[in-house]
Amino acid sequence: MITVAILGAGARGRNAYGLKFSKFPDDIKVVAVADLDAEKLRICGDDHNIPENMRFTSGEEMLKQPKLADVLFVCTQDRDHFGHTMAGLEKGYDIVLEKPISPSLEECKAIAEKAAELGRKVLVCHVLRYTAFYTKLKDLIDTNTIGELVTVNAEEEVGYWHQAHSFVRGNWRNSVESSPMILAKCCHDMDILLWLIGKKCLKVSSFGSLKHFTADNAPEGSADRCCNCPEEIKKNCIFEVEKFYIDGPIGIKNGYTGWPRKVVEGKDPTVENVTEALRTGPYGRCVYKCDNDVVDNQIVNMRLEDNVTVNFTMSAFSEKINRTIRIRGTKGEIVADWGSDEIKLTVFGKKPEIFHPNNDASAGTGDTGGHGGGDMGLVKGVISLFANGIPSKSTTYIDKSIESHFVALAAEESRLNDGKVIDMEEWINKF
Ligand SMILES: NC(=O)c1ccc[n+]([C@@H]2O[C@H](COP(=O)([O-])OP(=O)(O)OC[C@H]3O[C@@H](n4cnc5c(N)ncnc54)[C@H](O)[C@@H]3O)[C@@H](O)[C@H]2O)c1
Repeated sequence: MITVAILGAGARGRNAYGLKFSKFPDDIKVVAVADLDAEKLRICGDDHNIPENMRFTSGEEMLKQPKLADVLFVCTQDRDHFGHTMAGLEKGYDIVLEKPISPSLEECKAIAEKAAELGRKVLVCHVLRYTAFYTKLKDLIDTNTIGELVTVNAEEEVGYWHQAHSFVRGNWRNSVESSPMILAKCCHDMDILLWLIGKKCLKVSSFGSLKHFTADNAPEGSADRCCNCPEEIKKNCIFEVEKFYIDGPIGIKNGYTGWPRKVVEGKDPTVENVTEALRTGPYGRCVYKCDNDVVDNQIVNMRLEDNVTVNFTMSAFSEKINRTIRIRGTKGEIVADWGSDEIKLTVFGKKPEIFHPNNDASAGTGDTGGHGGGDMGLVKGVISLFANGIPSKSTTYIDKSIESHFVALAAEESRLNDGKVIDMEEWINKF
């Protein structure tokens, strides 16, 4: 049995992790929680029957106390991770830290150094590694089924409505307030690519832009909020919010009440409270009139050790939220589609083999929601590591996770400098 303190009881702290802990009452127990929002604090406190004296109105208050639990989950926003994690390490906690570690590479390094100095574990929530899908890909690569790796092409399809929700209207729309898109969204991809390939990245270049979600593309006569927009414009606008959250295929009226509707209202969503939140809150704004600056498309090229080349594309403009990957080796190729849970392995000259990892009871995490089962996989990995002392094969610590952040921020540096090639050794030595 391990005890946990949750710092930040929002979409990740409460919904993605806290509620899952309740499924393992013999292994993990939440004993303390902190949130600035009184209602979120109450809800999460009640989820776990936490006594009043262990509910804190801020992380700062919680971290003034002596160590309260074995593990601290830091689930606040990107720019708060550094302060909360450094204070948590000083208090003696091992830490499970939401990604990104921090938007600042100096801060990422400082956390890694502090953890090493104090001999504490910091596990970054790279949840994709814990999915049955990526674990299977890793096994196929590590067992040399396709020989030496040569090229990898990966694509992240963000999904048009997900982009609008999170990266135009929502928490990660503005790189100054949160992080650049390539870090906020794609540090998962950088991490999974480095983890799958198992080699260091030597050079990076990148292009990308905010092409569509700008004032220039606002329909003539459109209002600042969907609820005030003329009916004719609303009807033809694919980003009109009622379609997303209320009566569209994933709207509340069709029975969907989880993410992202929960984020719009902050608590448990109903037609009434979400409608009101869209009338007054950030998620009801016109997508062409927000204070967003993060890109809606970006490509990254990488050269890794042993002449492995990688090309990654992120695009907002897809129907589905998905990731695909083509991995080519000297003896065969793997073509994989995360959304359909299909991995096609072709050893050259042989009949292809098809795998559906989530159908394999021994590989699945028992929950395919939440990053394709990755959120549940991470919870199980945390229990295995901290309660039983057995790290899962997906588990590495901050000293490894930081590599994805170096690559992501090198890509951003390149993008901002018209695709300039960044030498990773020189780049890392700057920090
Ligand atoms: N691993 C993943 O796949 C994944 C997915 C989405 C988001 N994230 C990351 O998770 C983090 C949290 O995202 P979220 O969607 O849960 O955000 P959120 O806004 O829903 O939750 C953050 C919570 O922290 C609370 N908070 C802020 N400052 C605080 C303080 N000083 N003390 C106590 N509580 C405080 C807020 O009130 C809020 O409830 C972000 O860094 C985000 O980038 C990770």
